Amino acid sequence: MTRVWLLAAALCAAALPAAAQDAIRGAALAEARGCGGCHGPAGRSAVELVPSLAGQPAEFITLQMILLREGLRQAPPMNQLAQGLEDQQVEDLAAYYASLPAGPAEDRAARDAALYARGQALSAQMNCGVCHLPDFSGRNQIPHLAGQREDFLRHTLAQYRDSQRRGTDTNMNAVMYNVPDDAIAALAHFMAQQ
Ligand code: HEC
Ligand code: HEC
Repeated sequence: MTRVWLLAAALCAAALPAAAQDAIRGAALAEARGCGGCHGPAGRSAVELVPSLAGQPAEFITLQMILLREGLRQAPPMNQLAQGLEDQQVEDLAAYYASLPAGPAEDRAARDAALYARGQALSAQMNCGVCHLPDFSGRNQIPHLAGQREDFLRHTLAQYRDSQRRGTDTNMNAVMYNVPDDAIAALAHFMAQQ
């Protein structure tokens, strides 16, 4: 029975465009590697400090996986988990998570009106939407932020500020230079509430 299904899936895959075929292989690989155990079965994380991946641009996921695999972004346990993945497998995983609908974590907290308003004002002042797009959906190597976990956003924004995280460029380090913790908390709340 399983074989019949696999054959059917393979035949379907043959008729689909390349990105869809990558996503099908990526879904199987994510299952085999247990990515959903931390990042959520539908790519929406319910685990503290673990980012949601659903709806991230494929290019962003691919780039981050390569940075993690090569140790250029230090983020245990991901450095270890990315070992042994071939470039094509990374692209398959990226196509799979990019194909899933983005959305907030189930355990998202209620909106704090004052914190949200402060985050909104800071975001406008600091041009977050210029790169991440006005709806914060991201593009190419720039991540989707809308509805991301607030705890992860706080953590990672502080890492950029403190030069503990760098991308292929230093845009985010420049953006976050000297930004105090309370402003980071407001920005994270605003983005998480989108
Ligand atoms: C044991 C839990 C765990 C598992 C399993 C896991 N991850 Fe992660 N992943 C994390 C954590 C924690 C982070 C955030 C690390 C940080 O920035 O401090 C992360 C970060 C990432 C990021 C960066 C996302 C971003 O928005 O910055 C990607 C991409 C990713 N993981 C993909 C995967 C894939 C693909 C798999 C399966 C091959 C996987 N992860 C398995 C815990 C996990
Ligand atoms: C000049 C363009 C630019 C601006 C302005 C900008 N960003 Fe970014 N942002 C990027 C890029 C590029 C990345 C990916 C960097 C990397 O590879 O680590 C990124 C990554 C991030 C991440 C990491 C998300 C994840 O899932 O790993 C967060 C959070 C973030 N930006 C928030 C913000 C906020 C909040 C603002 C406004 C205060 C902002 N960004 C302004 C370009 C920008």
